[in-house]
Amino acid sequence: MEKISVKLPSLADAKRRSKQPSNIERVNYDLPEYVKNIGVNRKYYLRTYGCQANERDSETISGLLEQMNFERTTKPEDADFLLFNTCAIRANAENKVFGEIGQLKRLKVNNPDIIFGICGCMVQEEVVVDKILKQYDQIDLIFGTHNIHRFPQLLYNAMMSKERTVEVFSKEGEIIENLPVNRFNNYKAWVNIMYGCDKFCTYCIVPYTRGKQRSRLMEDIINEVKELKEKGYKEITLLGQNVNAYGKDLNMEDGFADLLEQVAKVGVERIRFSTSHPKDFSIKMVEVMRDNKNIMPFLHLPVQSGNNEILRKMARGYTVEHYKMLFDELKKNIPNIAFSTDMIVGFPNETEEQFQDTLKLVEYCQFDFAFLFIYSPRVGTPAAKMEDSIDEKTKSRRLKELNEKVASYANLKNQAYLNKVVKVLVDGKSKKNDKVYSGYSEENKLVNFTGENIKTGDIVDVLITEIRSWSMNGEKVER
Ligand code: 5AD
Ligand code: SF4
Repeated sequence: MEKISVKLPSLADAKRRSKQPSNIERVNYDLPEYVKNIGVNRKYYLRTYGCQANERDSETISGLLEQMNFERTTKPEDADFLLFNTCAIRANAENKVFGEIGQLKRLKVNNPDIIFGICGCMVQEEVVVDKILKQYDQIDLIFGTHNIHRFPQLLYNAMMSKERTVEVFSKEGEIIENLPVNRFNNYKAWVNIMYGCDKFCTYCIVPYTRGKQRSRLMEDIINEVKELKEKGYKEITLLGQNVNAYGKDLNMEDGFADLLEQVAKVGVERIRFSTSHPKDFSIKMVEVMRDNKNIMPFLHLPVQSGNNEILRKMARGYTVEHYKMLFDELKKNIPNIAFSTDMIVGFPNETEEQFQDTLKLVEYCQFDFAFLFIYSPRVGTPAAKMEDSIDEKTKSRRLKELNEKVASYANLKNQAYLNKVVKVLVDGKSKKNDKVYSGYSEENKLVNFTGENIKTGDIVDVLITEIRSWSMNGEKVER
């Protein structure tokens, strides 16, 4: 058994980036012998917060736990080991986690042998680890985003030593291939193509919590996609914080357009990718999307603001005019494309006129969907140090106003689907009514529908009969 020493995070260290390219070490991951049976007759409960990168990490953590012979439970009260995989993107995401850790303290009172762990982006921040160490003595295990491969040893240490085990690396290490994975879905899969982010948008904590950009090798990605196709997967989503920068760290020119083309050729029925950055989105990418019918006609393209001065302060690296040009180019080449975006209101000192520019951009683009956020200062980021004279009430009012505008266009966009047939990948039965199924169309529209002979994982034709703002209803029709 290895001696584990406490290792605390530092955002300042995370910020200092070496210019060295990432060392793509491909290890055949092997679970240490001594941890192999620590899960026998034990159950784990895993809760995931935040983005798809975290969901995918949880699939790896779950794969490791199952190799250690743990069994999964969906009830915290039944678990011997509880783990929260957390998100740091905004203060309210963090407050939710603290609230829930607080609530589950009672389990530890009833059964002191329970091991309670916390991992993910939150614990890459020293302020968070500090707070946990001082105020949450129910937490036994803390590990970060860069050392998931060390989780079995760390869990073993927490279980056997009964000491708090804390290991968070501030710097990313090598890319570890071949970690086990327990995929939570049998027909839709996420495939990481890169880790980390080098963009350093001034409001964002991700480049600090997830480290510098490291792309996986193209052949590793293609092999994973081929394997998934053979297993019968219908939909693959390529994941990265900034997928359009794929390969830049491997000296590739427009690597993502090439990768996407190669992935499309493997022939999985549906290919999606997330998240795109407008600055790195090339015209070749537009053509690859247009020319490959299995790349879905849907794009999540975060704009953040409709005002050039705010975009500059955010260090986004593009103008509103550039965004519109890209948007128009995509629409021209892929007429049925649907768009979603992310927007932040109340960035430090955002004036009323600057906010109005964001409303104008919504009028121009008429997004199908948008994720809207009130700016949340993150300790250690440049924007957190900017002066901000805008009060909370104004920020909430702007959010509401923007939300109303987005909702009205979302509804308008959906109206165009009435009496049309869309292809839906069936996710399963609705929780409220077992005669109703749900799934997503190629354009990423949530569709609820009825019909006969429907199985989860099928792709079916659905005639749209009723429109709502954020979903549509319909009936299955024969092809
Ligand atoms: N405050 C508010 N929203 C943020 N996002 C990222 N950082 C912050 C922050 N500090 C939003 C951005 C990003 C999405 C994932 O979260 O819009 O695209
Ligand atoms: Fe954050 Fe910007 Fe990187 Fe997206 S591109 S993860 S918003 S720093």
